[in-house]
Amino acid sequence: MSPNSDQHSKTQRFIERELAYSAHNYHPLPVVLERGEGVYLWDVDSKRYYDFLSGYSAVNQGHCHPKIISALVEQAHKLTLASRAFHSDLLGEYADYITDYFGYDKVLPMNSGVEAVETALKLARRWGYDKKGIPVNQAKIVAVEGNFHGRTLNVVSFSTDPSSRDGFGPFMPGYQVIPYNDLEALATALEDPHVAGFLVEPIQGEAGVYVPDDGYLAAAYELCRKAHVLFIGDEIQTGLARTGKMLACDHEGVRPDILILGKALSGGTLPISAVLADDAVMLCIKPGEHGSTYGGNPLACKVAIAALEVIKEEQLSERAAGLGKYFREQLQQLNHPNIKQIRGKGLLNAIVIQHENPDAAWELCLVLKNNGLLAKPTHGDKIRFAPPLVITKEQLDECIRIIQRSLAILE
Ligand SMILES: Cc1ncc(COP(=O)(O)O)c(C=O)c1O
Repeated sequence: MSPNSDQHSKTQRFIERELAYSAHNYHPLPVVLERGEGVYLWDVDSKRYYDFLSGYSAVNQGHCHPKIISALVEQAHKLTLASRAFHSDLLGEYADYITDYFGYDKVLPMNSGVEAVETALKLARRWGYDKKGIPVNQAKIVAVEGNFHGRTLNVVSFSTDPSSRDGFGPFMPGYQVIPYNDLEALATALEDPHVAGFLVEPIQGEAGVYVPDDGYLAAAYELCRKAHVLFIGDEIQTGLARTGKMLACDHEGVRPDILILGKALSGGTLPISAVLADDAVMLCIKPGEHGSTYGGNPLACKVAIAALEVIKEEQLSERAAGLGKYFREQLQQLNHPNIKQIRGKGLLNAIVIQHENPDAAWELCLVLKNNGLLAKPTHGDKIRFAPPLVITKEQLDECIRIIQRSLAILE
């Protein structure tokens, strides 16, 4: 047997075991990873790759960032879970730190991203009843086409993606879905006095990195303000320096009434999410009305502080802004006939492939993998390019060369 087929069978063994015992709810690239550091990942055969997905933007600070890992390990030896039945010595410190960092009165700590979205939606409904005077059980949330906010039954109730939604009904009422990037549609939807909140991703990540028109977010915020509706910014994927500002809403000077964060809040180490709002909104929820066993646990508090510190200390927003612009320019210069569009902000980017083969994007990702770069198609023809924000210009140049070389498969 050649060394190559040996390696192949090793990878294959891991994959087969996973397929045998783990639910088939994903369709991963055939690579088995065992180690990560900074922008790099290594597979079980010690082959090194550039990570161009960053755990769907959870690893903005780079894999196994030493400061975040130290915080994790140190705290893991002290106390990991207190539960919210008691106070911990870290929740106050973390809440103080993150509210000051983003300029809000209060934080509600959760774990996964979708839990934070659920939290924000509950908060908006409750605010709608308590503060806006919406009649009981009549509150509505406006969401947009192409959204991705997670996978719970409630959240897929207003998804427009058939693979997220089909076969999971009946769905939760109380949502109105309007086109994205359409201010007229928003203005019309907000005429309904029962609307409590407008939920939006400042850039639609999972949909394939759709960047709305300049001015959309600011105008949408203004419409919400006038209609006495909460603007709920889902910055789980776009936040924490990914798009070249701390928050993608910062590009337009918008401060969401409810801000949702997740993913890179732990730098890829733990599920940590957060909902931030001012007292007028946050204090609508009273003791016993919402919570989570792990939400705000001491380990998460310590890790999140470290993860947020790294973003500022290493100027990740500035890096993402500069390198992102450079990356898109370099891709443009390739002038490749099979790249229909290049779009993005900061280091959240995507290319749209045009090719007669509907699997061309997947096949390109396989070639990229063989050439040492890991990226994943989304919705068939789009490939997201979102490396950790600690990537250097030299590393990015090497990645552009890999992308250029790999594109030859499409010709
Ligand atoms: C914008 C947005 N919201 C919510 C989520 C859901 O986060 P999680 O997978 O941690 O539940 C995601 C995940 O990709 C996301 O991109």
